[in-house]
Amino acid sequence: MELEKISRLLHGGDYNPDQWLDRPDVLEDDIHLMKQAGVNVVTLGVFSWSSVEPKEGVFTFEWLDDIMNKLYKNGIYVILSTPSGARPPWLAKKYPEVMRTDENRVRQLYGCRENHCESSKIWREKVRIIDEKLAEHYAHHPALIMWHLSNEMYGRCYCEHCAENFRKWLRAKYGTIDELNRHYWSAFWSHRYTCFEEIEPPSKHGEMQLHALVIDYSRFYSDLMIDFISIEKNAVKKYNPEIPVTTNMFNITSGINYDKLAKTLDVISWDSYPRWHCQRDKTTEWKNAVEAAFTFDFVRSLHNKPFYVMESVPSVPSQFNICKLKRPKMHLLSAIQMIAFGSDSVQYFQWRKSNGAIEKFHGSVIDHNGSSDTRVFCDVCEVGAMLEKMSYIKGAASVSEAAVIWDWDNIRALQEQVGLRHDKSFFEKLPQRHYEAFLKNYVNTDIISSESDFSRYKVIAAPALYMFKPGTAEKIRQFVENGGHFVLTYYSGITNENDLCFSGTASNPVYAPYSLNDVFGIKVKEIDGLCDDEYNELEFNGRTYKALTCCELLDIDDSESLSKYMHDFYKGICAVSKKQYGRGCAYYLACDTENDFLHEFYKYILRNADASKIIGSEYVKDVMVKQRGESIFIMNFSTEERTINANGKIITLSGYDFAVLN
Ligand code: GAL
Repeated sequence: MELEKISRLLHGGDYNPDQWLDRPDVLEDDIHLMKQAGVNVVTLGVFSWSSVEPKEGVFTFEWLDDIMNKLYKNGIYVILSTPSGARPPWLAKKYPEVMRTDENRVRQLYGCRENHCESSKIWREKVRIIDEKLAEHYAHHPALIMWHLSNEMYGRCYCEHCAENFRKWLRAKYGTIDELNRHYWSAFWSHRYTCFEEIEPPSKHGEMQLHALVIDYSRFYSDLMIDFISIEKNAVKKYNPEIPVTTNMFNITSGINYDKLAKTLDVISWDSYPRWHCQRDKTTEWKNAVEAAFTFDFVRSLHNKPFYVMESVPSVPSQFNICKLKRPKMHLLSAIQMIAFGSDSVQYFQWRKSNGAIEKFHGSVIDHNGSSDTRVFCDVCEVGAMLEKMSYIKGAASVSEAAVIWDWDNIRALQEQVGLRHDKSFFEKLPQRHYEAFLKNYVNTDIISSESDFSRYKVIAAPALYMFKPGTAEKIRQFVENGGHFVLTYYSGITNENDLCFSGTASNPVYAPYSLNDVFGIKVKEIDGLCDDEYNELEFNGRTYKALTCCELLDIDDSESLSKYMHDFYKGICAVSKKQYGRGCAYYLACDTENDFLHEFYKYILRNADASKIIGSEYVKDVMVKQRGESIFIMNFSTEERTINANGKIITLSGYDFAVLN
């Protein structure tokens, strides 16, 4: 692969020279400053459609040739983007159907970006043409190392073309309308369809109540975007299949099923924008660091390989309500965190700050003043120098014996469900809270879907795995039978892949977790929702913890009760159970708890499962540890000094400092 041309970690970012084509002096400066900062790659052309095709059918590559050649001469490689993230005005004026139609069936006017209809044939054709033109011209350019397809794809269109494609997708999935009615439970509120033509995409001023329909529309649109990306992939691969393709992922709840998308990409890349320093407690950045770590482990697990951070902010982001400067040392620390968690790059949005438009205040390596005498530029140079010294880590994998399930379909279903908790973010964030407990136990952890291969793990946690798709229960059973330790929590095994509840009869009752009662040795009888200021309590390993948010009432069959509720009418009922099954162990956590409980609970399970710790130490507050290849990264996300025993070596880190043990 062309990426192997570079033996170093990548350092660079989005570069938009087409905004300065009338300023050759500025472009001259750029190359000079890039070399000073240890930049070895830039991403070109993300939003360059109007510079490459200023008029329909008229292509101008001279400016791009000139930049690509100059960069290459100066040892800087190029990730070339297809420009489908945004479109020129002439295109929307002539072909209004390329613009998206919103849920209320109002078509958008020209403007903005990432708001085109992925069903539009003319949009697909125009994108294919420009992608092929770019590929024909640059596919063998020596500077080119990767294609960057589109940009942060998200959202949905609801136009007539999309509705028609959705109906086709439903016909292929269900075959007949009767079958669809059966899966949609459409006798409810008289929703029974007589033909596919009656089906409309969901809308807040239309249908949102048939959850199977709502979830199917998300699945359909995710498939449509992946299909669209495949057109782009084929177009650029036509002239040189050796150049790898990626698209920058950016938000795991953005609307695309990234597990599926990953299958069409050669390389995974990620845009990382933690809200550093935006918390009340200014002495710690632990919470932001956990969120960043979770997303890095999520994208790394997609191919179980290193990924690329495609964008991050070198200084102040402009999209948050409060735009905080990165405190001294944070730039270097956040860069080392990317590398520790599996990135082979540190890249920025963007190299030079635009003079106008909405991102004119978004932090960049070079500010409006154009100077290299800035704190940000020095920070970037420091990262460049560090990456240069760390080439040995490029390509190194992380091995994890633990995994947490974050499943796209499951989260979509939980976002729609009405009952228990209406706050969607509670469920979205739940896997991250369990993941944090693994992090604090200093084990490497993967983030996987319920369809991933379970066999390489010793411990898997599935928080609120509400939706059991075909085969899920069987996989869990086999994993435990074969010696795995599996943790399932409240609100699991309740619905099937179409969000229909599993149900039984008097002679054959069905209880959650569906078809796994014998594995876990429990039956879920009821679930109680708790108000925000309410809690129950449970005791575990000699300490009392709060049970919050929701408490399930279990019938214990042949499992051991590790902890019981201490209050209310369910005082004395099991809250945490454990059952030996086959060669492994099945744990059930019946209630939401404070995070400290999760830390202790997983400590107990990891020990039982004999899972390897990166370092033997107990958690030192705000100190994160990750192993990649043979290197152990120890990072202090506190402003205060911390000392940790790293397998016999006493390491003292000042605020925001880190150590890499090789
Ligand atoms: C990203 C986007 C970039 C830029 C950046 C600003 O989400 O891909 O084009 O807008 O945000 O933070």
